[in-house]
Formats: sequence, structure tokens, C-alpha cells
Amino acid sequence: MTESGAHKHVDAHSGMGTTGHEWDGIRELNTPLPRWWLNILYATIVWAVFYCIAYPAIPLIQSFTPGVLGWSSRQSVNDELASLRAQREPIVAALSQASLDEIAHNPQLRTFAMAQGKAAFANNCAPCHGAGGGGSKGYANLNDDDWLWGGTLEQISATITHGVRADDDLSHAGMMPAFGREGMLDEQQISNVADYVRSLSHLPLPAQANLAAGAAIFSENCAACHGADGHGDMELGAPNLADAIWLYGSDKATIVEGLVNGRGGVMPAWGGRLDATTIKALTIYVHALGGGQ
Ligand code: HEC
Ligand code: HEC
Repeated sequence: MTESGAHKHVDAHSGMGTTGHEWDGIRELNTPLPRWWLNILYATIVWAVFYCIAYPAIPLIQSFTPGVLGWSSRQSVNDELASLRAQREPIVAALSQASLDEIAHNPQLRTFAMAQGKAAFANNCAPCHGAGGGGSKGYANLNDDDWLWGGTLEQISATITHGVRADDDLSHAGMMPAFGREGMLDEQQISNVADYVRSLSHLPLPAQANLAAGAAIFSENCAACHGADGHGDMELGAPNLADAIWLYGSDKATIVEGLVNGRGGVMPAWGGRLDATTIKALTIYVHALGGGQ
């Protein structure tokens, strides 16, 4: 950049010095960077040095330089969470003291429980029951007011706490037997009783359906759990077979598959994983989803 005295040359047009480089008579102007530009550059260098000293900055092999101010993004999130928790403490305490009925009848507690329940549902339940609780094949729809295990606040709370066919002493238990695999019914009997089950909810039947035979098989083998009229039994988790709502599906192949192999959907017990207040909030939320009972 500097000009050697011997080659010092001033450009006649611009009046500025040149660098002393010359190619085929073309000289390079030595135009200095504007002061304001340089000042900003120096300021950013000073800032960067200050920043590296003050804040976490330089990666090391196992960790990083922590910075003299002791700031960390994790700590700042923790602080925010702590302050949020402190704000919520009174209402969380109220929620943990109140009974399900009290929460349901107190607009402020109920609103809070619904928000907590919605968040906990998205985190824990949506993978199986769907984001809005709509369910899918084998995973109960929680949006309708048709309940396998009962739709009162107490019943819903018990289902969530202890699960269904789960590893919990108080879990709901009982299965739909594998009539085909266990040799209790033959293929023709299974076909007849499947047609009969479809007739309960007025679904189309094949012309050769033998409903009388199906009805006899039903009262002998199925009525004990599903009820004489097929309306189900919530003590046993045996679904109502005479409505339009199906856990697994209403087509004949699906019904036959269940009769051959049995059914027994598993829902985990949440009592050991979620705290009592969260389960209360979930109960209120799920109860509201299904219109409750
Ligand atoms: C691993 C999958 C899975 C997860 C996760 C899960 N569930 Fe379930 N849940 C099921 C299945 C399967 C059933 C149906 C059980 C049956 O066939 O009787 C069920 C049934 C239920 C029922 C009974 C519905 C009725 O009609 O009586 C409720 C209530 C329920 N779940 C709530 C929840 C809540 C709340 C959560 C989150 C804390 C949750 N479930 C998480 C699989 C799951
Ligand atoms: C020991 C009790 C028990 C007996 C006996 C029984 N079931 Fe079930 N059945 C259940 C239970 C419990 C379920 C729900 C399984 C689940 O939640 O995964 C069920 C589910 C079903 C379903 C699926 C319903 C749906 O919504 O998808 C059909 C269909 C059915 N049973 C038909 C029958 C027929 C037909 C018989 C007689 C041949 C029979 N069941 C005998 C307990 C029983």
C-alpha cells in the first residue's frame, strides 16, 4: 500500500497518489478507505473482543469458554420458567386441592385445567389418540360420547391413571377371546355371528346370511360380555355392537379378524408417569372432548 519515494506518482486527473504498481502504463490509484467505514470496522472488532470475553463464545474440545458475565441460554430459559411457575403457583395449588367435581364447576379452575390438559394431551396422548382425540383403528376415539370404560369424570380418571390391560394392578382388564384360533367356533359359525353383529346396526348383509344361527351363537358366546342386545358392558370394556361407532371397523373382514384372533387394545397406565394434577387436568380435558357423561 505504501508508496516508495522513488516511484511516487500523483495521478493528474484525480490528484490522488498511486500505489507505485504499473502495468503497461496503467497505474493503480491509492484510494484510502473512508474514515467512517474504518471506524465502524474498528468498533466491530472491539465489540467482538468484548463479546468473546463477556459471553460464551469459543468452542473447546469438551465445552466452551463461559464468558465473565456468566450468562447462559439454558439458565435464562430456566429463569423464565421459574417466574412462570411462580405466577401460576396459586392456581396450580388450587387445582391440586380441588376435587374433579369442584374443578368442573369452577369456571376459572376449569379454564386453567383445560389449557393444562390440552398441552399434556398433545405431549402424551396425541401419538395414539390423534391430535384432536379423534383416535384411529384400535385407538379409542375420545371425541364422541361413546365410552368403552365409562365417561364420568371418575371413570375417565381411573382409565388414565391405571390404563387398559396395562402393567398396573388396578388396570382395566379382560379381553375379547380368540374364538377362531382357540377352536371355540368354526369358520361358518364365525361368518354367521359376524353377519348377525352387522345386522345389529343395520349394515348390509349377504343374501345367504343365516341370522337365526348367528343370533343363537351370539347369545351363547357373546352376550355374557356384550349384553343380550349387544349394547356392551363398560365394566368389561366390551363395546356396544349395536351402534354406528366402531373401535376396529364395521366391515365383515375386520369383524371376522377379531373373532378369529381376539382383541385386546393396550393403553398405558399414566399414574406413575404424570403427577396427580396433570391427570386431573387431562381428565377435565378428555371429559370435555367427548361431551362427558
Ligand atoms: C400407546 C397408545 C396410547 C397412549 C399413548 C394413550 N392411549 Fe389412551 N387408549 C389407548 C387404547 C389402545 C385405548 C383403547 C383401549 C381398549 O381397547 O379398551 C385407549 C383408551 C383410552 C380411554 C378410554 C376411552 C373409552 O372409550 O373409555 C381414555 C379416556 C384414554 N385412552 C385417555 C388417554 C389419555 C388422557 C392419554 C394420555 C395421557 C392416553 N390415553 C394415551 C392407547 C393409548
Ligand atoms: C370375555 C368377554 C367377551 C366375549 C365373550 C366376547 N367379546 Fe367381543 N369384545 C370384548 C372386548 C373387551 C372387546 C374390546 C377389545 C378392545 O378394546 O381391544 C370386544 C370387541 C369386539 C368387537 C369389536 C368392536 C368394535 O367396535 O370394533 C366385536 C365385533 C366383538 N367384540 C364381537 C364379539 C362377538 C361376535 C362375540 C361372540 C362370538 C364376542 N365379541 C365375545 C369382550 C368380549
